[in-house]
This record gives sequence, structure tokens and C-alpha cells, in this order.
Amino acid sequence: MACDPKNIIVTGGAGFIGSNFVHWVVDNQPDVHVVVLDALTYAGNRENLAGIPDDRMEFVHGDICDAELVDRLFADADACVHFAAESHNDNSISNPEPFIRTNVEGTYQLLEAARKHGVRFHHISTDEVYGDLALDDPARFTEETPYCPSSPYSSSKASSDMLVRAWHRTYGVPVTISNCSNNYGPRQHIEKFIPRQVTNILCGIKPKLYGDGLNVRDWIHTEDHSSAVWKILTEGALGETYLIGADGEKNNIDVLRAILAAMGKDADDFEWVRDRPGHDRRYAIDSSKLRRELGWQPKHTDFAEGLQDTIDWYASNEDWWSGEKDAIEAKYAAQGQ
Ligand code: NAD
Ligand code: DAU
Repeated sequence: MACDPKNIIVTGGAGFIGSNFVHWVVDNQPDVHVVVLDALTYAGNRENLAGIPDDRMEFVHGDICDAELVDRLFADADACVHFAAESHNDNSISNPEPFIRTNVEGTYQLLEAARKHGVRFHHISTDEVYGDLALDDPARFTEETPYCPSSPYSSSKASSDMLVRAWHRTYGVPVTISNCSNNYGPRQHIEKFIPRQVTNILCGIKPKLYGDGLNVRDWIHTEDHSSAVWKILTEGALGETYLIGADGEKNNIDVLRAILAAMGKDADDFEWVRDRPGHDRRYAIDSSKLRRELGWQPKHTDFAEGLQDTIDWYASNEDWWSGEKDAIEAKYAAQGQ
């Protein structure tokens, strides 16, 4: 069902993917006004939204678990795109509690407000809800793959997906869900794989590779994630799930070696570190439903080029990440990673 929203709430809009989505909307949808609702946790940064004019965006510093605040914001909105989450697997292993609170309880509060005010709700989820695939398995995840999450993070996201489905079926809330693969691009927190290794090299620290380095992730540029989400929000069928991916399967050691080469380092100039407990082996997305039914295509099909732009962004924006670097590395070192 076509949807033409003019006032949208973007939760988690000060984080990595949320802020890239807000910039995408401001740049590509001139009639749309955005209200960003973000708690500014360690992963949120108000600077991620710098340069956006006041008449295009209002920033609300608040928690998605705050039912009263959420109710007030939904009263004036046509649609909500829900990015806010605790998003890092390693953190979910050391302390699952905030993942259950934000990802499960927070999604519940938003759904209740969407139900009360009849707001169109797009839920951002992850391919990790499907568990993992073997390296030699030709299969990829589809919308029909059974849920089988491995980590506290992915099980909290799977729980939130189930709430969204139930609020659609039971209460008729107008929802869609997308499950996307690993994003890369500017403004990703330096706890994550690609920015951690790039900033390690910039700081003279050796990159760190978990386990045997053969785990596969299916990389997509965050701008392609944004265009896919807008397509689903405006043209997706209510109650449907769409997988988002750009055919970007690569193992971790190949990605690391591409970073090392791009930054003028030796192919073996890194350290092996302790593996992540329960580490998913391989993710792979079949996004043919989204491409066939909604006509979406990714623009960033050259990974080497997107990676180089990402490296350049971290090299030119040291102020954005340098204040946090020591603490992040100390936390990893305490975990043997
Ligand atoms: P991120 O950690 O960079 O940003 C999360 C944002 O949510 C931050 O701005 C944070 O302040 C905010 N937030 C956290 N708890 C909140 C709360 N209780 N109330 C309000 N705001 C809160 O995350 P990201 O990598 O940008 O991921 C965004 C979404 O996309 C998540 O839902 C994640 O599960 C999903 N996703 C991520 C990827 C990926 O590769 N990073 C891939 C697929 C799906
Ligand atoms: O698949 C989508 C998911 O991708 C999202 O739902 C998550 O929010 C997002 O964080 C990401 O999860 P991953 O666990 O795949 O991403 P991460 O960047 O943490 O790790 C990518 C791979 O790199 C993974 O196999 C673990 C490995 N790794 C990670 C770090 C931080 C290393 O080898 N060394 C590292 O230092």
C-alpha cells in the first residue's frame, strides 16, 4: 500500500545507520520533516546530524522506553522508522540487560503508540535473526528462513520482530519489517569491525582478528540501506518483511587485508585474538523479493571504492573518534580481544 509520509519520527537517528538515513531523507525528500528521537547512549552522537537545517529536523533527546514522551511524539507523526537499539554483539555478551530493555521493551512502547495513533511503523532489523549458514552451504537467507538467533543481541532483535508481527496481526497496526546485512560507511562506531581496524592502523595499533578470520559477512553500504528503507516505507506491503542486501559476501580476513593494502600496510600486519563466544559463521542475504516487488537496486556495487571512502572519512574525522579510542581498546583488551 503506497504511503506518502510528511512527518516522520526516526528513532536512533543519532547513531550510525539512523543518522545516514536522516541525511538521506533530508537530501532526497524535500517535503518530509524528521523528528529524531535518540537517547544519546555511548553510540549516539549529536554531531552525526550536524548541518541539517532546523526547518527539516527536530532533535528530541529521549528514551524510546519513555511511554509518555513517545505517545506525545506519535500524536503528530504520520510514520516512524525505528532504528534505535543496542547494536553490538560483543557488548550483548558481556551485559545483555540493556539489549532486552531497549530492543524489546522499547519496541513495545513504540508499537503501543503506533497502535493508539494509527502511525505507519517501519521496523529496522537484522539478518542475524536467522542464525548462521555453513561456509560451504550455497543457501542464502530469504524471508522464509526460520528464526534461529545465536547471541543476546540477535535474540533481542528477533523478539522485537515478533512483537511487530503480532501488533500487525492482532491490532492491525500498519507495519513493515526489514532485515539487513552488515552495513559499512561513515559514522559507524569504532567498536565495530571495519572502523576498529581502520582507527587501529591510524593509531599505530595492530588490527585484531577473531578466531580463524574465515567468518563471512554480507557487506552493504549504509546509503543503499537508506534507499531500501525508504522504498519499503513508501511502497512496501503492510505486514510484510523484506530482506535488504547487496551481494557483498566476504570473509573477515579478506576485508582486513583490503584495509591493510589500502592503508599501505603488510598483509600479515595484524594480531589474532580470542574468538567471540557463539560467533556466527556466515551471513548471506537473498534480496530478490525487494528487487522484484519494489524495484530496488543498490548503487554502491564496488566494495573497494566504498571501503576507500570509509577509510578516508575516518582519516579526515579524527576528532569524531579519537576521544573514545583508548577506552574502547581497553575494554576489548580486558576481554582478550
Ligand atoms: P548504533 O549503535 O550505531 O546506533 C544506535 C542508536 O540508538 C544510537 O544513536 C543510540 O543513542 C540510540 N539508542 C539506543 N538506545 C536507545 C533508547 N533506549 N532510546 C532512544 N535511543 C536509543 O546502531 P546502528 O549500527 O546504527 O544500528 C541501527 C539499527 O540497525 C539497529 O536497530 C540495528 O539492530 C540495525 N541493524 C544494524 C546493522 C549494522 O550493520 N550496523 C545491520 C542490520 C540492522
Ligand atoms: O549482520 C548485521 C549485523 O552486523 C548487525 O545486526 C549488527 O548490529 C552489527 O554490529 C553487525 O554485527 P557483526 O557482529 O557481524 O559486526 P561486527 O562489526 O561486530 O563484526 C563483524 C565481523 O568481524 C564478525 O565476524 C566479528 C569480526 N571481528 C569484529 C571485531 C570488532 C573481528 O574479527 N575483529 C574485531 O575486532
